[in-house]
Amino acid sequence: MSTAKPKVFIARPVPPEVEEYIAQHCTYSKWEGEKPLTSEQLRQHIADVEGLLTAGGRIDAELLDHAPHLKVVSTMSVGYNNFDLDAMKQRGIKGTNTPDVLNDTVADLIIALMLSVARRIPEMDKYVREGSWKRGDNESLFGLDIHHKTLGIIGMGSIGRAVARRGKFGFGMNILYHNRSHNEQAEQEFDAVYASMEELLGQSDFIVLMTPLTEETRHMIGETEFSRMKKTAIFINASRGQTVDEEALTRALQNKTIYGAGLDVFDKEPVDPGNPLLSLPNVVLLPHIGSATEKTRSDMAMRAAENMVSVLKGETPAGLIKELCD
Ligand code: DGY
Repeated sequence: MSTAKPKVFIARPVPPEVEEYIAQHCTYSKWEGEKPLTSEQLRQHIADVEGLLTAGGRIDAELLDHAPHLKVVSTMSVGYNNFDLDAMKQRGIKGTNTPDVLNDTVADLIIALMLSVARRIPEMDKYVREGSWKRGDNESLFGLDIHHKTLGIIGMGSIGRAVARRGKFGFGMNILYHNRSHNEQAEQEFDAVYASMEELLGQSDFIVLMTPLTEETRHMIGETEFSRMKKTAIFINASRGQTVDEEALTRALQNKTIYGAGLDVFDKEPVDPGNPLLSLPNVVLLPHIGSATEKTRSDMAMRAAENMVSVLKGETPAGLIKELCD
């Protein structure tokens, strides 16, 4: 049996300690360009590798046909909607992701979005900076409360539970949730109540969408769903942009069908300069930074590297994507 280290390609920047870990187990090359590499550049770099460490970017049949030796694609993210699972399965290529390490960081950001929209923080910051604050406060600056309101979570996975924990114990919120199956842990820990989609939309003051993007969840929130929400509802999306019909969301914000929205994800990322959401005051926009703290991104990179090495050693890492298991 050959003892040569497997060859891998690192397509996204990783901290030095992660690179050192990979060097202990693999022969590697890495992308050193300033901009993320194009799919054409990626194709050229994976022709002879067994492992690919990446994040985002479509992993499809066309790309995989240029990587005949590839055994594993490891993504530094919990979402893996960029993987063409059929194409990977047909070629016997494993995929891994990094769930759990990011739960608290993403949940913190979701709470920040809820507060930012409800208390209109970016708008108020602008108001002070541009010199509009001429006298004491006035009614036009009033926002909405978070505490003791109803928080509806669509997709009660581990991030959903981290949000529910903050809502329940930090703000005394009532928790509703909608999910494919009941989540007993959430019911016991936070008195979370399972609701139909219709009930959740109609009763929640804050609606947090945390479901993974699949063919079933694409555009799961659209015109009908917005029309069922309270006029004072605040909608938060930190899952994937395509889970929402963005045009319907834009109309709901323009027409004040709902109070506001906080978005970390978009249909097209980065957002086009002409996107009408950019001109609306009742939406807070973030550049897909849910997990983007130094510590969490570094932990995700290490987890992704460990997953990749583990597959190359013939082991079964915790992050192995179940749809790609034998
Ligand atoms: C994830 O991990 O999926 C986050 O959205 C960052 O991409």
